Amino acid sequence: MRIYTGNIQTSPHECFKPAQSMSFPSNKHLTDDMHSTCADAATMRKARFWNRIARKYAADPIPDMAGYETSLQRTRGLLSTEHNVLEIGCGTGTTALHLAASTGCFLATDISAEMIAIAKEKLASQPTPQLSFALADADLPMSGSATYDRVLAFNILHLVSDLDQTLAKAAQALRPGGLFISKTACIAEMNPLIQHLALPLMRVIGKAPLIVQCLNETQLRAALTRQGLQIVSVERHGTKKKDFRVFIIASKPLATDPS
Ligand SMILES: C[S@@+](CC[C@H](N)C(=O)[O-])C[C@H]1O[C@@H](n2cnc3c(N)ncnc32)[C@H](O)[C@@H]1O
Repeated sequence: MRIYTGNIQTSPHECFKPAQSMSFPSNKHLTDDMHSTCADAATMRKARFWNRIARKYAADPIPDMAGYETSLQRTRGLLSTEHNVLEIGCGTGTTALHLAASTGCFLATDISAEMIAIAKEKLASQPTPQLSFALADADLPMSGSATYDRVLAFNILHLVSDLDQTLAKAAQALRPGGLFISKTACIAEMNPLIQHLALPLMRVIGKAPLIVQCLNETQLRAALTRQGLQIVSVERHGTKKKDFRVFIIASKPLATDPS
């Protein structure tokens, strides 16, 4: 069972400011330093699991290729070569490598240095000028405000520490009228034994990540709405028996209604 399903920052693409750096600031006020140190330690703890499994994750086949292709096609249809795109939790960059050529600029980020290293290896063998990879924790502030036309989050929202905080930052990073496109495992919709028995056990033996939120579709929709995003579409693309992964497109309103 894959509960988690679904080189430190170098030269980010020039269209983008780099995502939140994970290096320690050298000349900031002490309290800022303490804050960063805590954030870095927490980030490193969360990344450990993903670093450890990255090579295996890269080698594993996509479990439902037809469902994956549907999500890719759906997303590609919402992209243009004018768009600045940010992907959070990009893993080994498979999706970014499929989509980046349909965009103007595509910054794909992940918390795991190992995942990003593999993504960069793939990019080297499949040069894609629009695409760059960078290390970033989706629990921390994202680069730029109102910078991106699209923010993509595939198989990541159930893995962040604070969903509201991550979505608030994603919404902030989007331009008005921009789209947040996500696919998320709804573990709360699975057999309760997974949430209450299998997951805790797997965590104990190091087979599940530190953070896994057991969400359902209603909670996800509500969380997006709380950040002022408007749900455009809710879809399921899986082709196997029951699809526990919900694909949601949400838009950032063009202007705040004064009333
Ligand atoms: C299940 S994988 C999904 C990867 C890719 N998006 C996909 O669909 O194949 C989850 C990814 O999220 C990353 N991740 C976990 N927590 C994260 C966080 N707080 N910030 C950024 N990335 C995170 C992991 O390193 C891993 O690469």
